[in-house]
Amino acid sequence: MGYTLDVSLVTGNRMIDDQHRELLGRAYDMINSEQALPGYQEFMAAFTFLKDYVFYHFNAEEEFMEKQGYERLSAHRSEHDYFRKELAAIEKDASQKGATREISMRIHMLIVDRFIQHIRTTDRRMAAALQGA
Ligand SMILES: [Fe+2]
Ligand SMILES: [Fe+2]
Repeated sequence: MGYTLDVSLVTGNRMIDDQHRELLGRAYDMINSEQALPGYQEFMAAFTFLKDYVFYHFNAEEEFMEKQGYERLSAHRSEHDYFRKELAAIEKDASQKGATREISMRIHMLIVDRFIQHIRTTDRRMAAALQGA
């Protein structure tokens, strides 16, 4: 079952919207199944599955902005870098401390709160500026 993008998150760029849908679907699957994940291995596998897709998506967006000569590329990339760093930090902490409640709260805050905010403002502004590209 696919995840449906809230209308406030739609950028109008097909590639970007498809990737956001996939990414948020993976994030919610992980958050919802967290309680049910039988152990550390499963938790890390789910986390890596999500992280890899986030990295893939950021690269695709940055490539698109580069190709279009988007003037706010470097500010946009800095926001992505924050998420890349934070995901790497969460992964490192999880590998040292295990899949704690604190780790899942951080994933929740990062993806559900901050990432959605990034889509709603930064990604939508970019897609609007590069409309029809
Ligand atoms: Fe995005
Ligand atoms: Fe972005």
